[in-house]
Amino acid sequence: MIYAANLKCNYTRSGFLEYARVLDRNISDQSVMVFPPSSAFLEAKFKFTQGAQNFYPAKSGSFTGEIGSDMLDEFGITTVLIGHSERRALGEDEPFLKAKFDFAKQNGWDIIYCIGEDDITHMNGSTKEFLCDQLENIDLEYENLVVAYEPIWAIGTGKSAKAEFIAEILDFISTKTTAPLLYGGSVNIANIDDIKAIKNCDGVLIGTASWDANKFLEIIKKD
Ligand code: 13P
Repeated sequence: MIYAANLKCNYTRSGFLEYARVLDRNISDQSVMVFPPSSAFLEAKFKFTQGAQNFYPAKSGSFTGEIGSDMLDEFGITTVLIGHSERRALGEDEPFLKAKFDFAKQNGWDIIYCIGEDDITHMNGSTKEFLCDQLENIDLEYENLVVAYEPIWAIGTGKSAKAEFIAEILDFISTKTTAPLLYGGSVNIANIDDIKAIKNCDGVLIGTASWDANKFLEIIKKD
C-alpha cells in the first residue's frame, strides 16, 4: 500500500520539520509520500518520499510566483502531484495539465495524476465518461505513473465515497492503465480498512487526516 499525505496549504518549514521527524521515527519499510507546501521543503533525507504539490513546467525563467525544476532539484524532489481538483479549480486546464505531465515525464519524475468528478457529474451517473476525458491527455503507459481517483464531492467533507463505488471506479480505471491506483477523499482511521480491502486499490492520498503526523501514523500502522 502507498500512503500519501497531501499537506495542502498547511505547515511552515519549522512545523514540517517536526512533522517529518515524528513520521520518520515511526515508519520502516512502508511506502510513504508526503507533499508539503514548497516553502517547507526540507533538504534532509527521510524514510518517506518528499514530493511537490505543484510546479511550473519549465526549468526556470520569467514565470512570476512559480517554481521550476531547478528549485525542485535543489531538494532532490522527483515526485509530483498533477491535476489535483483544487488546482484545476484555480484554472489549471487540460492543455496546461498536459504540459505539466509531459515536462514531468521528460524528467522521469514519479507522477501522481489526480482525477475526479464533481457532485453533479456523480449524480448524473456520468463519472466514467468524465474520468475518461480527464485521462485523455496523458500517457497511461508511462512507467512512473500513479493515478489517484479523488471524487471532488468526497474531499474534505468527512464523507468518503462508498467502498462499492470506489471499487467500481478503480476497476474501470484499471481497464485503461496498469499504473498503481490510489483513492482519495476523506480517508481516515475509521474507513481505511474498508478502502484497503478494495480490489485494485494500491494506496490512499490523504488530506485532512494526514495533517497530524500521529494520526497519519495510526492509519499507516494499521498495515
Ligand atoms: P481529504 O482527505 O481532506 O478529503 O483530502 C483529500 C485530498 O484532497 C488529497 O489530495
